[in-house]
Amino acid sequence: MTAPTPPSSPRVRGDRGSFVVAIDGPAASGKSSTAQWVAQRLGFRHVDSGALYRAATAVALSRAGESFDEPVALAGADEITLRPVEHSFVPVWRGAEMEEMIRAPEVTRQVSRVAQMHGVRQWVNAHVRLAAEGQHVVVDGRDIGTVVFPHADLKVFLIADPWERARRRLTQRHGRAPSDAEIADETERLVQRDSKDATQTVQAKDAILIDTTYLTQAEQVERIVSLARVFEGGESAPDADPARG
Ligand code: DC
Repeated sequence: MTAPTPPSSPRVRGDRGSFVVAIDGPAASGKSSTAQWVAQRLGFRHVDSGALYRAATAVALSRAGESFDEPVALAGADEITLRPVEHSFVPVWRGAEMEEMIRAPEVTRQVSRVAQMHGVRQWVNAHVRLAAEGQHVVVDGRDIGTVVFPHADLKVFLIADPWERARRRLTQRHGRAPSDAEIADETERLVQRDSKDATQTVQAKDAILIDTTYLTQAEQVERIVSLARVFEGGESAPDADPARG
């Protein structure tokens, strides 16, 4: 594997002038779209760590079908690079952006298994840290504030009621209001995914919890942008202790 060498330690405020916003939370809590919007508002770059787990899964599936193991996943991951596009980084395989491939239902079904592979986690973490080198970033995932950037300048943990997460996901997917029966099915799937991803979905002790159940996306973005501006000005979270990250 030719994963880039990670920086010797995650960056902290003032280190090379960069500022890291970590946004973690469970599936369908709106992390990625919120993170992307926050990055645009702040003029930072967005890194979606879940997209890398998905990219490794998609390549493994295309190389070996469902029976792939960790060595196959790592060999496939080695062929993936990250390309800066507008305010984000996107995974690229064989010269092509992977957005459609990584959202395939088969990838969503298999990705939790890949996210348990230690080598894949190291590969993702190294790529995310390298992408964030020398620039202000908004990084979203499950363990960004605890493992990837334990000294992030601002850590946010987004949660929302599972029913509401399911409703939002279906509305986005189908472009119409889902029925209660559809929401109930999707809620069950989400709760199952939450339990598969539970080990790594951890709220950092110094993260700010935002429950988005009754917030619009614009309101969530506004809160995080306001927090980032305060924290950029040198304030720390109530009770924040970076050493505990
Ligand atoms: O957020 P998402 O649905 O795109 O994440 C895809 C998978 O990757 C999901 O199983 C959780 C996992 N993941 C992780 O374990 N750690 C991260 N930092 C980001 C995602």
